[in-house]
Order: sequence, then structure tokens, then C-alpha cells
Amino acid sequence: MSHNILKGKRGIIFGALDNKSIAWKVAQQAHLEGAKFVLTNAPIALRMGTIDQLAKETNSKVIAADATNMDDLNNLFSESVKELGGKIDFVLHSIGMSVNVRKGNPYFAQNYDYTMKGFDVSALSFHKVMQAAWNLDAMNEWGSIVGLSYIAAQRVFHTYNDMADNKAVLESIARSFGYHYGVRKNVRVNTISQSPTDTTAGSGVKGFDVFYKFSNDLAPLGNASADECAAYTISLFSDYTKKVTMQNLFHDGGFSFMGMSEESMANYMKPNS
Ligand SMILES: NC(=O)c1ccc[n+]([C@@H]2O[C@H](COP(=O)([O-])OP(=O)(O)OC[C@H]3O[C@@H](n4cnc5c(N)ncnc54)[C@H](O)[C@@H]3O)[C@@H](O)[C@H]2O)c1
Repeated sequence: MSHNILKGKRGIIFGALDNKSIAWKVAQQAHLEGAKFVLTNAPIALRMGTIDQLAKETNSKVIAADATNMDDLNNLFSESVKELGGKIDFVLHSIGMSVNVRKGNPYFAQNYDYTMKGFDVSALSFHKVMQAAWNLDAMNEWGSIVGLSYIAAQRVFHTYNDMADNKAVLESIARSFGYHYGVRKNVRVNTISQSPTDTTAGSGVKGFDVFYKFSNDLAPLGNASADECAAYTISLFSDYTKKVTMQNLFHDGGFSFMGMSEESMANYMKPNS
């Protein structure tokens, strides 16, 4: 499925670690839709991951940047504008990490140094990315910036831990920066609240399999896959969504508005369940 809807557009894609990453699928589809872009990730992820394979497939350059480091981000935006031959039309922020989750500290027993690190990587980096682009005036008029979120920002998923707070801030940053970028350059900023997806970040959350099954059973359309998330993201980069901004857009097969379904009720009422 390719309609060249990103023809002539230039982008920066954060967060492709391996071929399961949502950002990886976005890069593949953006390439098929005619976009040119730079791939970026933290230096350690570039060493550990397989991004060079994706760069080859999509004919794109890789520029390292720790998304918490303003010098790296400034370098990334100025080099990308040079590399791509003009200002940027779209940015994907597909970044998340909680040290408390990694270390197995529950929500009520956080190590606050870990909390601050996770907040910086998962939430504040979204602001930093936009502030770097803003300061360099690197975005084109009617550009589009997308971050990826999860419904734990609104509802409790008991093991999602401090990532729930990080996602709530991420969504708030989309609204607040969306206002300023809209007024200044007609740039839109949105988050997509995606279904549980089997990736390195997703499957790192304790109980991921159960969250996955629960939402898949409850959602009338079932969970959205990484490829489907990429297709939705592409639509937000395209000119078909120019007036969509400051939104948190649920991409979850209807899960977010469900209460109970016939299937879930039957499961719940099974003897001994
Ligand atoms: N997988 C899910 O179930 C799910 C559901 C909803 C939302 N999301 C969100 O989607 C986004 C992408 O995650 P994914 O599921 O594709 O997993 P992933 O592990 O493939 O991607 C996470 C990326 O964040 C990058 N990253 C971490 N620290 C960084 C830093 N300091 N600077 C730059 N990059 C850094 C990693 O290198 C990795 O590429 C995340 O924001 C995640 O929270 C995931």
C-alpha cells in the first residue's frame, strides 16, 4: 500500500532499535510513501541495535543523538537540514525507558534518581526535541510532530509504574508545545496512544502478556499492530491531517472506550476465574 503521500517531505525518526520497533515500521512506510529522512537513536542503541540495516533499506543516514542531550539534538537538527537539503516536515519521537521498571522497583518504592532519568528520557526529551527544532527554526510551515503514548497516562495499569506519569507529561507537552508551534509556524503536535505491542520497550513491562491479551479481548477491533501504528503515524505526517493538533489520539481498536464485552464477560464468569 503506497500512495506517495509523503513525497517531497523530509523527516527525522527517533527510536528504531530493531525490526520490532514501532519507529522501524514508520521508517519503512515513510520510505515507501516517498519521504526522505534521517534515522537517529542514542549512541549505545546504535551500537547494540541493527539500525544500519534499516538505513540501507530506506537509503537514509544515521545520526547519533541522546534525546536528553541538547548539544546532540542541536547537532542532529542542523545536520539533518543539511543532509536532507531543507527544513524538516515531520518528526517521530518514539522513545521510552524507565530505570525503575528495568530494575524491578515497584511504583511505591522508586529510586528517585532512576525516576528522574526515566522522566528525562521518556517525557522531557519530547520537549527538548521540539525546543532544539524551535531554536534552530528547523521545522517547515505545516510540519507535523508525533510522540507515542500509552493509555496508562489516563488509567491505572498496575505494573506500568512511573512510565504512566511520564506518558501523562508527554501528552501534556504535546498540548502545550502544540499551542506555541501552531501559533508560530502552523506546526502540529500530537501523541498516538498505541495498543500494547511486542517490542523491546513493550515487553519490558511486567505483565505485558496479560495487558496485551486483556486489551485484545476487550477491543472490538483487537489490538493495533506496530505496522498499523506506523500507517496511522504516516497519515499524521501527511497533508491529509493538517488541522489535527494538540491531541492524544487513541490507536487501540476501540479499547479506550470499552467497559465490558461479551467475550470478557464470558471469561470473567468462568468457574474459578
Ligand atoms: N510497545 C508497546 O507496547 C507500546 C505501547 C504504547 C506506546 N509505546 C511507546 O512507543 C515508543 C517506542 O517504543 P517501542 O515499543 O517501539 O520499543 P523500542 O524499545 O523498540 O523503542 C524504544 C526506543 O527508545 C530509544 N531510546 C531510549 N533512550 C533513548 C535516549 N536517551 N535517546 C534516544 N533514544 C532513546 C531506544 O534506543 C529505542 O530505540 C515508546 O515511547 C513507547 O513507550 C509502546
